[in-house]
Amino acid sequence: MSKNVDFLVIGSGIAGLSFALKAAKHGKVLIVTKSNEDESNTKYAQGGVAVVVDKKEDSFEKHIKDTLIAGDGLCDPQVVEIVVNEGPERINEIIEYGTNFDMTNEGIYDLAKEGGHSEFRVLHYKDITGFEIERALLEQIHQNPNIEILTHYFAVDLITQHHLGEFVDKSSTDIKCYGIYAFNTVTNVVEKILSKVTVMASGGAGHIYSVTTNPTIATGDGVAMVYRAKGKVRNMEFIQFHPTALYNPGEYPSFLISEAVRGFGGVLKRTNGEEFMYEYDERGSLAPRDIVARAIDSEIKKSGEDFVYLDVRHRSKADIINHFPNIYAKCLDIGLDMTKDMIPVAPACHYMCGGVLVDHVGRSSILNLYACGECSSTGLHGANRLASNSLLEALVFAHRIYDDAIKGFEEITLPVGIPDWDEKGVKLSNEDILVTHNIREMQKLMNDYVGIVRSDFRLDRAMRRLGLLYEETEEFYKRTKLSVKLCELRNLIQVSYLVVKSAMMRKESRGLHYTTDYPEHAAVLEDTVF
Ligand code: FAD
Ligand code: SIN
Repeated sequence: MSKNVDFLVIGSGIAGLSFALKAAKHGKVLIVTKSNEDESNTKYAQGGVAVVVDKKEDSFEKHIKDTLIAGDGLCDPQVVEIVVNEGPERINEIIEYGTNFDMTNEGIYDLAKEGGHSEFRVLHYKDITGFEIERALLEQIHQNPNIEILTHYFAVDLITQHHLGEFVDKSSTDIKCYGIYAFNTVTNVVEKILSKVTVMASGGAGHIYSVTTNPTIATGDGVAMVYRAKGKVRNMEFIQFHPTALYNPGEYPSFLISEAVRGFGGVLKRTNGEEFMYEYDERGSLAPRDIVARAIDSEIKKSGEDFVYLDVRHRSKADIINHFPNIYAKCLDIGLDMTKDMIPVAPACHYMCGGVLVDHVGRSSILNLYACGECSSTGLHGANRLASNSLLEALVFAHRIYDDAIKGFEEITLPVGIPDWDEKGVKLSNEDILVTHNIREMQKLMNDYVGIVRSDFRLDRAMRRLGLLYEETEEFYKRTKLSVKLCELRNLIQVSYLVVKSAMMRKESRGLHYTTDYPEHAAVLEDTVF
């Protein structure tokens, strides 16, 4: 089976859906998504969207400054301005689509605060903001006759000139995207989907580590696909660990305890009840994430415990339940009453700050291919993302991509003779367990050697072990019939390789990349681009 569309979107999170709604005014849009339509990192976003709403206390300048400080010198200042300035307009659009944000009794938006923010500026809906945004966007999508969603379709690879037998060099500025090969996981057939414009909106890669807040869809597929197609990726060493995932051994993925709990007054404490964050940073428990995660990591290493505590017991029960009903219910589920008990927390892999290198309108280095949302590297986050800036970035860039993509897309022509997926010579595997073993091995080595604190020695070890896993997996891939798990393993290894390689290249500590061998900033600011 083969399809031909104007706009192909890979992923149904905030980035993919918000682009699709706009593009559908101009042509046919097809969204392919590998799980249920709402399954995404977006669905689990808790804290909210950072945006300047209250112009009396807050200002664009303050939001820009906070973003730049968190990014530790590596943000693209122009992109920071763009996202902050264009944010309010994009937020109004999703409110018009039907998204609810909490209001105070006085009828104004109830703004929350998170780490690294100098003002209260986070719009939220209880502690399930992402779920609410995803709901509202999908409702609009369902009403739009120009948009089709194919669920349980796994994008395997981008189609470029390579598939026509032409050699494409990584340095070429003329690599073109013609669509994707997608694996229909219901029929187990790989289908060819051709498109004039393709938008990669495939989200993050939390599952390169075994401890992550990300749902299981987050396996870095987009970055891996673009890299395999010889597109450029940037700053992959900057993997953000959220400081406060619920410590609940055996639960995978980890449940997040929103940073908004600290914005609400929650204080990090040692297991003996002592506060410790002021020993690390004058902003205490509300310092930017990289600093808090490193501090907790260091406390855990010193104490030998597996967690620290987050204490919010000084706030009233009614306020806690009103602001954090989802977190309260989850804690109760495991026998913790957060109004009376401290919450055990530990860092978990949360967000990929690097990704597919894009310009100011979301164009990747491959022609007719855009990237949006967590899979992209726009320059907003630099070396460390400011909390709640990613939903905003996705909205702003989805709009910019739309603006650019509709110009002249009708003139884009696709070559004839693009082949169907070639399955010759592959066999059904009777050893899928090997794939599961390799995923676990890879996640463990990333945990052990490429965590919050790194060193040359550890990175070398990680690279050697990854090399072996890479060879085994590629060999298995060549002779085996496709499965989602196998494709994901391949992508996870590819992304882990990019993280380690980029980390090895960065001979300094900056933002989320901290190495004991080079604890200071380097004199020269540089991106890592592959
Ligand atoms: P996603 O929402 O992850 O969507 C990606 C989509 O691509 C999914 O539909 C997925 O199934 C699909 N996909 C992936 N690979 C393939 C493939 N090979 N083929 C087909 N489909 C594919 N950010 C904030 O700004 N504020 C917050 O409060 C906040 N809280 C968070 C809480 C949690 C627990 C997590 C995990 C993240 C949070 N973040 C938050 C980060 C934010 O949610 C994400 O960065 C953002 O939602 C990413 O949106 P996206 O559309 O780029 O990707
Ligand atoms: C949170 O609620 O702590 C997550 C916010 C984010 O990742 O931006």
